[in-house]
Order: sequence, then C-alpha cells, then structure tokens
Amino acid sequence: MDFTKQRYTPMSRRRRIYEGKAKVLYEGPEPGTLIQHFKDDATAFNAKKHQVIEGKGVLNNRISEYVFQHLNDIGVPTHFIRRLNMREQLIREVEIIPLEVCVRNVAAGSLSTRLGIEEGTQLPRSIIEFYYKNDQLNDPMVSEEHITAFGWATPQEIDDIMSLAIRVNDFLSGLFLGVGIRLVDFKMETGRLWENDLMRIVVADEISPDSCRLWDIKSNEKLDKDRFRRDLGGLLEAYTEVAKRLGIMSEGERPQGTGPVLVKS
Ligand code: TMP
Ligand code: ASP
Repeated sequence: MDFTKQRYTPMSRRRRIYEGKAKVLYEGPEPGTLIQHFKDDATAFNAKKHQVIEGKGVLNNRISEYVFQHLNDIGVPTHFIRRLNMREQLIREVEIIPLEVCVRNVAAGSLSTRLGIEEGTQLPRSIIEFYYKNDQLNDPMVSEEHITAFGWATPQEIDDIMSLAIRVNDFLSGLFLGVGIRLVDFKMETGRLWENDLMRIVVADEISPDSCRLWDIKSNEKLDKDRFRRDLGGLLEAYTEVAKRLGIMSEGERPQGTGPVLVKS
C-alpha cells in the first residue's frame, strides 16, 4: 500500500476514536490505519497530577518516531508507519493487549519502593514486569498466571511479548548508551496486528521520555518524566536534550513553549 499519496485531512473533520491522557487517536486515511496525536498534557499518579507543558507533545512525537522507525529498520515489528507532522503519526490499527510491559535494568521507582532496593543499583539481570492496564485499579502488577487465567494474552503471546521486550531493551540500551544516557527502565505496550488471517504481536503506543527512565551517564541527571513526577522542573529542557543527543533536533533549535501551565483537576 502506498500511504504517501494520501491527502491530509484537517484535524476537525476526523473521527476521534480514543482519547488518552497524553494522546488522541483519530481514524486514519486508509482502513486499518489510525492517526496518533501527541498532546502536551503530562500526568502522573493516575492523572491525580496534571500539567500542560507546551511543546512536550512535539518532542515525544519526534523521539518516539525515531525509536519506532529504528525498531522497524532492525526487524522489530511495530505499529508505526510514518510521522505526518509536528504532533501526529500514521500508525497501523492494532488490538491493544491490556498490559503495560515494564523492563528494568537499574533499580528505581516502584521497584525500589516495593523491594527496598536503593535507586541506581544495577540489577543482576534485566527484569520484565507486567501491569494490568486499568486506571480504575491503578494499573496493578500482575503475573503470567493472572494474564493467562483472565485471558488477557495466551502463553504463546506472553513469550512473543517477552522476546519483543528484550529486543527493544537491547536496542534502546545501546542507542542511549551511545549518546551518554543510561536506560534505567522503560514501559512499552503491545498489540495484535491482523494481516488477513495471520496475527502477530507488535510494539505499539509510544516510547519517549514519558515512558522511560533516562539518566545522564556522568551526572545521573534525570532526563525523563520523573522531572515532572518529582517536581524537579526543567522537563522540556530535559526532553530537548534527549532529542538533541539523538540528533533529532539541531543544536540551534530551542524548545517551544512558555513553560508549564497548571491545570486544575
Ligand atoms: P515505576 O517504577 O513507576 O513502576 O515505572 C517503571 C517505568 O514505567 C518507568 O520508566 C516509567 C514507566 N511508566 C509509564 O510509562 N507509565 C506508568 O503509568 C507508570 C507507572 C510507569
Ligand atoms: N501515566 C500515568 C498517569 O497518568 C503515570 C505515570 O506515568 O507515572 O497517571
């Protein structure tokens, strides 16, 4: 299929399929496609904390495009087709598996809290965790037993998800190490992509500083959403730094926006 010839439909005329905390999905130009729109909203603690940080969506769109395009290029299947504009990308429609797949290389965040391991401790090996995607329940951690018993994914699908997660982790760890960033952990989502009668699991959603922990190798400075979760400030500058190091934004380009705007919930 040639998607490059499709005419661009203005946002107002598109059918909205789904609105999440940081993104909106619209109907795509072809059957089986969607448009993923990145908003400027930052949320944490299941949206109890919420700010609009002007320019964040633009940066995440670019960074996620970079990651997903490279994953496609090395043969890791994803939903990504191409970026359309500053805030939007064309993706394949998939059936999202209701799991957040978290891969950890270094102790931080909820792992450190739950198990009392000091943040920054290198883990003996990469650890994969599953969380059930359900805002009402606060995305609880679940085991493979829960996943298969409740039919969220089959044992074969869990195997496929875990091998995808390991490949994404290896790729991302190397990518970031090359630009002086330690990949502490990240979250990814997967979906079922149907092609005629064949189904395969692909990487979906986004991979950006919103969904990763990224620490500067030398200073340990946080270059991710923990700047917002922990009220450290400078989120836009941190995401811009990640984009610059990956070569996505040129040295001269400045982050857009006037700074964070508090949203009353
Ligand atoms: P955690 O330590 O809070 O469990 O987070 C692990 C990783 O998952 C971290 O990189 C942040 C990311 N994450 C999300 O992308 N979405 C979420 O809702 C949560 C809780 C974490
Ligand atoms: N995305 C989640 C929320 O809004 C939490 C997080 O990333 O920390 O609430």
